[in-house]
Amino acid sequence: MKQAIVIFGSTGNLMYKKLIPALDKLIKKEHLDESSKIYCIARKDFSLKDYIADAKKQVTEEVNWEKLVTFLEYIVFDVNDINDYLLLKNKIKADGYTDLSIYLAVPPNLFPIIAKGVSESKLISKGESEKRIVFEKPFGENLNSAKKINRELWKYFDEKQIYRIDHYLGKEMIQNILVVRFANVVFNHIWNNSTISSVSILSKEKEGVMSRGGYYDKIGALKDMLQSHLLQMASLIAMDKPTSLDSEAIKDEKVKVLKDMIFSEKDLIVGQYKGYLEAEKVAKDSNTETFVYAKAYIENDTWKGVPFHFLSGKKLDEKLSEIIIHFKDDSALKAYFPSATKHQNKLIIRVAPKEGVQFQLNVKEPGLGEQTIPASLDYCHSCDALKNNPESYEKLLLELLNKNRTLFTRWDEIETTWNLVDELKSKDKKVHQYETYQDMIKIIKSKGVDFYDF
Ligand SMILES: NC(=O)c1ccc[n+]([C@@H]2O[C@H](COP(=O)([O-])OP(=O)(O)OC[C@H]3O[C@@H](n4cnc5c(N)ncnc54)[C@H](OP(=O)(O)O)[C@@H]3O)[C@@H](O)[C@H]2O)c1
Repeated sequence: MKQAIVIFGSTGNLMYKKLIPALDKLIKKEHLDESSKIYCIARKDFSLKDYIADAKKQVTEEVNWEKLVTFLEYIVFDVNDINDYLLLKNKIKADGYTDLSIYLAVPPNLFPIIAKGVSESKLISKGESEKRIVFEKPFGENLNSAKKINRELWKYFDEKQIYRIDHYLGKEMIQNILVVRFANVVFNHIWNNSTISSVSILSKEKEGVMSRGGYYDKIGALKDMLQSHLLQMASLIAMDKPTSLDSEAIKDEKVKVLKDMIFSEKDLIVGQYKGYLEAEKVAKDSNTETFVYAKAYIENDTWKGVPFHFLSGKKLDEKLSEIIIHFKDDSALKAYFPSATKHQNKLIIRVAPKEGVQFQLNVKEPGLGEQTIPASLDYCHSCDALKNNPESYEKLLLELLNKNRTLFTRWDEIETTWNLVDELKSKDKKVHQYETYQDMIKIIKSKGVDFYDF
């Protein structure tokens, strides 16, 4: 079946930075059939030649333009004009495409407008299993706005036709979490509160908001990172074994643990980096947080008493995203190896910039002494794949074309995570100023917060 992709917002940052390089790679790897077409929709009055010239200025990755251009068609479009949707529908039909993905790479306020146009023109009708529509993050700004958007979407489409993106789910190591957990008997039996003392989930960035101040100032770290990426990671770490690796079975288990999660209000700390107020399109008196530390518990038999620490922020010491599973000290061990208890066993799942899994264990210090020292079993996924790792968007686009919904978020995941984050957001917390990561760590510690040193 001939496949077509329609991308609304084809002149935007996401298209130039992520989608074009991802499409180029899919073409190079022959995942996109020669007969496929990519309709690039935007409002600028470009010809295809103008469009490619504009794209070439903005795309920084190496792209085989000559090949890519054979798949592309540029269409000037007014998202408020139903006639443009009807013209597009007729064009796609005349071109012979029946398998259709419509990707909304546009600001979220356009989601309901475009969804309505797509539905009224019958570009996609409810129940058509060969057609799907993709929405970028953020899905709403809080639970109410997300519900409002979703109610609109459900009027037009079945849940199975709706693909909500959280690009973290396209990252190799995030997909690897299920394999590490469930394909290794050694972890299968110890993945609970009798062996695990705490879980740390962090995503640190070195950059500030750069040119995205207009978007970020309305959102902040809690909504930008915790509601989506960090809680997605936590649900994959904490969920029970699904009955199968089917997308719905996995999502059922993720939602169950998210529903059992309770944040500790007193442990929430937020901060804003010095200089944020001078960023482009940021309100001069903005109170938006660019740093968040939060702690939650999962109130079920498996995780009762195990703190989940979340930390995310901009303008920190390094770019790093990882999950650390801290295993308990065994007091009996101390009698035999007093120095071993200084170094807990840890499993580190590195998500970015390097990808891999590291397990820290105790070994005997080489030589005549009897001290123990920490050593690590290290698997560097990105090294092993010889830099041939697919980027998130490459994987997500492929899954979309294959109609595999596992890496896209279901409505109840969005609803549950907004519920948690709305609750935190409603707390009137002082926004601390910071210059460095260590500034925030000092503040966290000075508050007597039960903080695991990341
Ligand atoms: N950029 C990223 O790295 C990134 C990462 C994660 C998620 N996202 C999400 O992806 C979506 C797109 O982000 P972006 O950074 O690409 O945004 P962007 O650079 O602002 O561009 C979005 C596109 O939407 C079009 N657009 C904006 N307002 C419009 C309007 N009123 N009518 C018709 N078209 C309009 C723009 O057209 P013009 O060129 O004509 O203005 C452009 O083609 C957003 O939902 C964002 O939250 C982006």
